[in-house]
Amino acid sequence: MIEPLGDMRRTHSCGELDIKAVGREVVLMGWVQRRRDHGGVIFVDLRDREGMTQVVFNPERNPAVHAKAHVIRNEFVLGVRGVVEVRPEGMANPDLKTGEIEVMVSELKILNRAQTPPFMIEDAIDVNENIRLQHRHIDLRRPIIQKNIIARHRAGASIRSYLNSKGFLDIETPFLTKSTPEGARDYLVPSRVNPGMFYALPQSPQLFKQLLMISGFDRYYQIVRCFRDEDLRADRQPEFTQIDLEMSFVGEDDVMAVAEGLVAAVFKEVLGIALNPPFERMTYQDALARYGLDKPDLRFGLELTDVSDIVADSGFKVFSDAVKTGGIVKALNARGCESFTRKELDDLGEFVKVYRAKGLAWIKVREGEWQSPITKFLTEDEKKKLAERIGMRPGDLVFFGADQAKIVNESLGHLRNHLGAKLGLINDKEYRFVWITRFPLLEYDETEKRYQAMHHPFTAPVESDIALLDTDPLAVNSRAYDLVLNGSEVGGGSIRIHQKDLQVKVLETLGMTRKEYEEKFGFLISALDSGAPPHGGIAFGFDRLMTILCGGGSIREMIPFPKTQKGACLLTGAPSPAGPDQLKELSLKVDL
Ligand code: AMO
Ligand code: AMP
Repeated sequence: MIEPLGDMRRTHSCGELDIKAVGREVVLMGWVQRRRDHGGVIFVDLRDREGMTQVVFNPERNPAVHAKAHVIRNEFVLGVRGVVEVRPEGMANPDLKTGEIEVMVSELKILNRAQTPPFMIEDAIDVNENIRLQHRHIDLRRPIIQKNIIARHRAGASIRSYLNSKGFLDIETPFLTKSTPEGARDYLVPSRVNPGMFYALPQSPQLFKQLLMISGFDRYYQIVRCFRDEDLRADRQPEFTQIDLEMSFVGEDDVMAVAEGLVAAVFKEVLGIALNPPFERMTYQDALARYGLDKPDLRFGLELTDVSDIVADSGFKVFSDAVKTGGIVKALNARGCESFTRKELDDLGEFVKVYRAKGLAWIKVREGEWQSPITKFLTEDEKKKLAERIGMRPGDLVFFGADQAKIVNESLGHLRNHLGAKLGLINDKEYRFVWITRFPLLEYDETEKRYQAMHHPFTAPVESDIALLDTDPLAVNSRAYDLVLNGSEVGGGSIRIHQKDLQVKVLETLGMTRKEYEEKFGFLISALDSGAPPHGGIAFGFDRLMTILCGGGSIREMIPFPKTQKGACLLTGAPSPAGPDQLKELSLKVDL
């Protein structure tokens, strides 16, 4: 039944024919979306990446070909030759570009057969994601995923063309390398020829791009895979793609301007939307104060209000104790939500617990009275001040978080996002960019009892704060910036340290001994001592950016062959055990 392609050559894609082609003989090739057999005439929707065309097998006009068409099933691969005809009166399909025509088949080649697919090749299917990932090559035939992957191609092309036009050079960097710290665990690769030694897959090309600046390449970019062994969440993958760039002789504004131009070019290409840079900027402190998170979604209000001073001596111990032990109390006014049920309030209480909050106090504001488990602990003066500061009006529902600042901000910040969605305050056609600036250089890691770089250890401190490294390291601001879009961190970068002494000082502040940093970053330190220009850059999360450009959903829908939450590729079955011979060659023993 299967025939060779021979010298049959396609003349058109399945998506491009329309009324203008009527009367022409064409050759189409593609997959069978559907076969309808109305006892006489057989209709087949033939599909390729461009779309679908109805092809017709008519027993009267071509009995031999019609007879052959009976064996055709879904996903068979066909080549058909025929003449384009107008569909009969009333048979046009206005939803399809090719809906007014059909191809009357005079020659059919069945190029391959197919097992019945595990799910329909359609956008709206109700199939467990694991089944889709297991048959990803078939899943990738679905129009919506094809659209995503093609949009990704176009985005990549527009990025390259934009950066090329700005004088950037596309330069590759190694995958088999040494650890590049970006805050995750490394994937290690054993070296056969150096028994007991390992390469690390790069968490980013950070150090190589800095070396390229030191080598004088001036402007570098790469659309490059990065590898991070971290706990996976909805917007993370163990291998993901960065749009990575670095520039010499620049300050923050220069890098941000290029980044804005790049994002604008992508939006124009993929969505046809003209963005309007420069984007808004907000300091890290401001973002935390108003939104609780350093990646605020600015598409809606519901800002947080600090009320610590008002309740510092309150009779409600949860509040006053939090303030006395160095914490804070903040409020979130959910306007008009006074009618939330007990169950809804309990659910929200559970929601914030994920972010380590111990509870979620609330006040329902009614005409002339407040309904709340906590009002009995509050004085008239406290109530008055709270009402004023928070702007409480009848119909409002006010939530309170009391704890260490980190916990309050994180839990109320996520509660804010949750409520924004729940209350329908988010316009999903809106794209709100904001630069977050002036991050602290360091944060204190309570479990490890040491300072950690908030971005990475190569980020420069603000010049005037350098002296504070000795006296008050947590007060040092950095020259880092993140680009946030609709509450998602789509990019991050910084101006780097380009002087050896300052780099050593920062590594020492991070608790590294000379021996440790020489071993890990000796090559960088010596490079910085070889004539390093001032430089800085940024990296975008390409998969995340595409997720937003393609209308939200899962990051896995933007990646041709993604991994599950457990880091598995269900299609190939990776990861899988290594055989004894392989392990022996690598001088490895598995100890489970
Ligand atoms: P950073 O670690 O912020 O910076 O990474 C840059 C951007 O990459 C995206 N991203 C991810 N996307 C998917 N899955 C992941 N696991 C993942 N991790 C990060 C985010 C993030 O904003 N070398 C620096 C950049 C620089 O300083 O120039 C870096 O890697 O969108
Ligand atoms: P309790 O006194 O524990 O019954 O708590 C009274 C109210 O305060 C309940 O609604 C709790 O959810 C809330 N609550 C308890 N701990 C906190 C906290 N750390 N922050 C905010 N609200 C809290």
